[in-house]
Amino acid sequence: PAVLDDVTAEILALKKEREAIILAHYYQQGEIQELADVTGDSLKLARAAAAVRNPVIVFCGVVFMAETAKMLNPDKRVLVPDLQAGCSLVDSCPADKLQRYQEMLRANGRRFQTVCYINSSAAVKALSDWVVTSGNAVEVVRDRVPADYEILFVPDRHLGAYLQEVTGRSMILWDGACVVHEVFSLTDLLEMQRRYPQAKTIAHPECPKNILEHADFVGGTEAMRQFVARQAQPTTFLVATEANMIWELQRHYPQHTYLPVPGISCACNRCPHMARNTLEKVRDCLRNLAPEILWQPEFDRAREVLTRSLLQPP
Ligand code: 13P
Ligand code: SF4
Repeated sequence: PAVLDDVTAEILALKKEREAIILAHYYQQGEIQELADVTGDSLKLARAAAAVRNPVIVFCGVVFMAETAKMLNPDKRVLVPDLQAGCSLVDSCPADKLQRYQEMLRANGRRFQTVCYINSSAAVKALSDWVVTSGNAVEVVRDRVPADYEILFVPDRHLGAYLQEVTGRSMILWDGACVVHEVFSLTDLLEMQRRYPQAKTIAHPECPKNILEHADFVGGTEAMRQFVARQAQPTTFLVATEANMIWELQRHYPQHTYLPVPGISCACNRCPHMARNTLEKVRDCLRNLAPEILWQPEFDRAREVLTRSLLQPP
């Protein structure tokens, strides 16, 4: 439509004027991904942000991702379309509560390291020994956390349970979950598997065990993309992750068929936080150079943990 074309043209002109780069997560609506210079999962985008030379980064995702970009490349101006784009996992783990829990464990003589999922606040990252994404979690937990330490894993209990199973490491799990991945309907998935017996089910490790145990492949969004890319024959995929992911898969691998697994009690498998971003808001943040992620005191320590975990090889 003409209105969207106008907005797109304005974004492209402003992007040039500001010398900006647009990074977008795979869960952004297709029209935003289409405009982006880089699309990816949390790990790919964090690494891309660290290497950016442009003075301005527009981060189309949720706020913890934009904060990560700022922490990994502090001299750049990091803009977000909507500062209210939060995440249920971030909300489930307030830093003061985590700190009290760590103190209680230490007082009880427990020897542990804290591993936090990147879907957490900067203050929680600052309280952690390691930060992981779905893309490097197995490797960090298996190879980098000393074997004689227990692991306190925050905030996603489903990803934590999956990591325990895959790595065999003993973990204390925080009680957080993703509002989108927690509610995929097992009944609908099993019905889809009956209807499409040749289909392959791909699921994100933020899903509960009852979904993961029925999946042919479990992995973060970039790992899913790579799994799809490896299929030699046209295949039907049942996709148990945020449904905008299908846009990226369809764009690069149109020979396959993608069917979204629905959530319980509604067809909704979209992240309400990711959905706050629109083309108009992308244009406005470039126009106003705001909202901007500003440096906060806890970013100093969080930056060290992030750099060690995501950028430095073991
Ligand atoms: P990845 O894209 O890193 O797999 O993360 C999924 C997610 O939920 C991001 O919020
Ligand atoms: Fe957070 Fe879930 Fe949305 Fe990802 S999909 S941003 S984990 S609420």
